[in-house]
Amino acid sequence: MVSQTSLLSGLSTRWFNSRLLLAVATVVSSVFWCAQVYAQKGISRLDPVIERKVDSLLAIMTVEEKIGQLHQESGGWDSTTQSLGATETERLRKGLIGSFLNVIGAERTRKIQRIAVEQTRLHIPLIFGEDVIHGYRTIFPIPLGEAASWDPALVERDNRIAAIEASTEGVNWTFAPMVDIARDPRWGRIAEGSGEDTYLGSVMAAAKVKGFQMSDFSDSTTIVACAKHYAAYGGAEGGRDYNTVDISERTLRDVYLPPFHAAVNAGAGTLMSSFNEISGVPSTANRHLLTTILRGEWHFNGFVVSDWGAVGELRNHGIAGDSAQAALRAINAGVDMDMVSGVYLHTLPIAVRNSKIRMSVLNEAVRRILRVKFAVGLFKNPYRNCREGTERAVILTPEHRAAARTSAANSMVLLKNQNGLLPLSRDVSSIALIGPLAESKDATLGPWHTMGEGADAVSILEGLRSSVPPQTRLTYKKGCNLTFSDTSGFSEAVQAASSSDVVILVAGETEDMSGEASSRSDLGLPGVQLELVRRISATGKPVVLVLMNGRPLCIPWEAEHIQAILETWFSGVEAGNAVADVIFGKVNPGGKLPATFPRSVGQVPIYYDHKNTGRPIDENERFTSRYFDLPNTPLFPFGFGLSYTSFNYGNLRVLTASAKIGQPVNLSVDVRNTGSRKGDEVVQVYIRQRYAAITRPVMELKAFRRITFEPGEVKRVEFALDSRQLGYTGDDMKYTVEPGVFEVLVGGSSDATIAGRFELVKE
Ligand code: NOJ
Repeated sequence: MVSQTSLLSGLSTRWFNSRLLLAVATVVSSVFWCAQVYAQKGISRLDPVIERKVDSLLAIMTVEEKIGQLHQESGGWDSTTQSLGATETERLRKGLIGSFLNVIGAERTRKIQRIAVEQTRLHIPLIFGEDVIHGYRTIFPIPLGEAASWDPALVERDNRIAAIEASTEGVNWTFAPMVDIARDPRWGRIAEGSGEDTYLGSVMAAAKVKGFQMSDFSDSTTIVACAKHYAAYGGAEGGRDYNTVDISERTLRDVYLPPFHAAVNAGAGTLMSSFNEISGVPSTANRHLLTTILRGEWHFNGFVVSDWGAVGELRNHGIAGDSAQAALRAINAGVDMDMVSGVYLHTLPIAVRNSKIRMSVLNEAVRRILRVKFAVGLFKNPYRNCREGTERAVILTPEHRAAARTSAANSMVLLKNQNGLLPLSRDVSSIALIGPLAESKDATLGPWHTMGEGADAVSILEGLRSSVPPQTRLTYKKGCNLTFSDTSGFSEAVQAASSSDVVILVAGETEDMSGEASSRSDLGLPGVQLELVRRISATGKPVVLVLMNGRPLCIPWEAEHIQAILETWFSGVEAGNAVADVIFGKVNPGGKLPATFPRSVGQVPIYYDHKNTGRPIDENERFTSRYFDLPNTPLFPFGFGLSYTSFNYGNLRVLTASAKIGQPVNLSVDVRNTGSRKGDEVVQVYIRQRYAAITRPVMELKAFRRITFEPGEVKRVEFALDSRQLGYTGDDMKYTVEPGVFEVLVGGSSDATIAGRFELVKE
């Protein structure tokens, strides 16, 4: 701990600079607050002119044309004839398709759009959707990695770039951001979201929506965002994809829904319903979620698309006897567009004829879709996102690659660095690079990479090759494959390690082990990789373990025995260069974990904002909430991440000791870079309401800021907590902020120990 005096003298010498920084940082922080709760932008604001246009159109549409708007078709492009397939063309001409997904390219989308606007009776444009998840062709870190940057401005920029690239190639609409909270790393789709925390997830959700949509759609490089998967998809039992979710209404509202609400408030034009059921009601037929909460409470005016085939799957869920019933369940609940199942298209006309559906329900679904099409400007210019010939100038440009490199490096989390092994000195004379993932270009792109191509990517081998000093010998040996049990490559890997000064061992998962339908029951390194790690470690050479994976892993042996561990996720097209930047110290890592790393799968679900229970763990007491064979603590906690420098926290001042609900709670903390390198720290603020009418988590993240510090620099970091954000869902299932005493914990991870307190009193 540095003394108060040295902190303060540092403060005075750098006061001006830090004030400047604080001023800027405070603005950024409040913008995000607004995006989460108060802003009503994009589609959230009804435009009377658009509403009148929708009215006029609805008045002249046939029932079939209306139902056509609710139908989304996948692909259909015939590469032999270079045109839309005959069946789809026929259907489209009749006005029976409202949207396509998986058709990409300015020329293709223009051709198809031309049929819609020139050959259909009412000339209603199509909206083209695509999964632009973490970049379009310039691939950024997977969303879990983006979240690990704790840098919403950077994430917004990356998604802006993704929109610029995608919008050039005919894409109007992305099925992103994925904002599902995931507290179970067995669930492979944890890779696609922002991790376990509601607040971090909400900030990232808003940042991504802004990146895709900006403040409105006037710029033709914007694309419509789609917050998915609504809702609680990450709560799948056993971490098995698509599985049952059974959570309380309170957990739903307090944990899983806020990122969706943040996306809606940031103006997201659409939402996607999730595959799962929640306590007996599939989301795709869940009126409570889709109408009562989304439209009633949040005033969402955009439209909801089902997930792939999910309307038809209502039969499998067992709440519909046939397709017709499934369609009625979904549309009455509030699913406006049917993604590919065709169930709306084929059954709703009959339902209308038999008066099984109210026209007002059908009209409302159509209205929402047309509203979005108008808002985006598709009626004004149906080809707004078809810019043939400009693709090369826009896609995968050196600027975009440079952005991807920065973001990749910023997403990396240094988990261990014994004796300052990293960064490696440029004087190192020989390096053994080992591990099957080191040469993989595909793996860097992660499970879902739209138009990303392995050929564009820089593997770790390539990145290191181009950055090792000329006098350094770099030997690469694969060692093993990722999924086979063959150990025949071990001996040459061991040999390479033994004859080098230092080993960089790249291990982890293949890109398809996370993402959709990629749940795992074991969270260790797959295949024989751990054995390889042990063998290499036994050489006695210093080892840097570089992890590439899409979820928190259980790596207790590695954490104990390996000197340095760098978590790089699947960090995108510039992965190899970014890894080299970090390993050789060009970039000082500053990422923090967006999800807890367990010691063992047996601890799952594990998350930092758990409840206290009536018998919180006491190591000396048998009858407390604990395991016989493991501590309750994780291997690496949420928010954790090291740096090549070190930071010291002191002088937490809660400036508002008592605030009326509605007033901000101001606090500041002095953070000092106590090392000799420039570095980033993510200053995190957690609160705890020790007792309330409903039990509260032991801590909850409520604010954070990533800040760069010069060596020796001290900054007074200020936060203004919005006291309206400190509540929970009360007994009556309404959001409430309860007066009482709150503890504040501030630090560089959820292990934060600098504590203060304040009181909230009635307005
Ligand atoms: C299924 C996935 O669950 C969803 O995330 C995706 O957007 C759709 N397929 C469309 O590709």
